[in-house]
Amino acid sequence: MSLLAERTQAITVHKMHPYIGAEVRGVDLSRPLDDDTLRQIKDAWHDNAMLVFRDQNLTEDDQRRFASHFGKVAKRVPPPKGAIKVETVAWDDMMMITDHVDANGKPVGSLGHGEMWFHSDKCYHRTPHRATFLYGIEIPSEGGDTRFASMYAAYERMPAELKRRLEGATVMQGYQYGHGHRIDLSLDLSSIHHCSQPLIVVNPGSKRKGLYAASVNTMWIEGIDREESEKLLRQCFDIIEDPEIIYDHKWRVGDLVMWDNLACLHARTDWPQEQTRMLRRCTVEGEPLY
Ligand SMILES: [Fe+2]
Repeated sequence: MSLLAERTQAITVHKMHPYIGAEVRGVDLSRPLDDDTLRQIKDAWHDNAMLVFRDQNLTEDDQRRFASHFGKVAKRVPPPKGAIKVETVAWDDMMMITDHVDANGKPVGSLGHGEMWFHSDKCYHRTPHRATFLYGIEIPSEGGDTRFASMYAAYERMPAELKRRLEGATVMQGYQYGHGHRIDLSLDLSSIHHCSQPLIVVNPGSKRKGLYAASVNTMWIEGIDREESEKLLRQCFDIIEDPEIIYDHKWRVGDLVMWDNLACLHARTDWPQEQTRMLRRCTVEGEPLY
């Protein structure tokens, strides 16, 4: 038996939740991957929307190389001019998610504070980032979980009347920089990144439909009055934030977690402020949704 065949056969996929998430075992992401291994990982990703690889030891280059199999590694997009929060970290393709500061008091990362509600990375750009890759470097002893909600399960659980009503609807997706809760609907759009997107998206990999409604990002349904829009969106948020379709990932140092931003939403739980949480993130670009 060749070494290649041995490596390919070593991979196993273990579901962690009925609706979302699987652990992939038997692969070392610090080494280049053969085509067969990569195909199995992509199949598992399409089937499960979110994957965990435990006990990895990855440099920035390793993480970037792995991510590049799923699309062009994206550069971070700075906030619009005039946004309230200004950061001093580099706007590059790798980002440290932490609120820690260096010996001179300068931030070493960004987006590192406390709880964040459900959202989808870069849904407010014409080409939302397709996949996100997070690597666990320092993990608090409690809290700081990343929560994943299945957009597919949410779509399937929508009442038939709501599906009929919202099929073909478009929504305004936006991002209020540094704000992790329901977006302020009175914001001037020119002051934030925003983009019109379909509310129900067909995933390019799995071809399954998903509900693309996130409380942090989704401002309103276009073409109907705001009160009706908010009522319908609240229904959608309740469906997609139902604990039954959510997997809570409890981090360990060395976890590489990757997910499909067109198949799941993610959120973050709070953790004790005196403890360190540091994750390294990169994303890959996707295609326009219409
Ligand atoms: Fe995020």
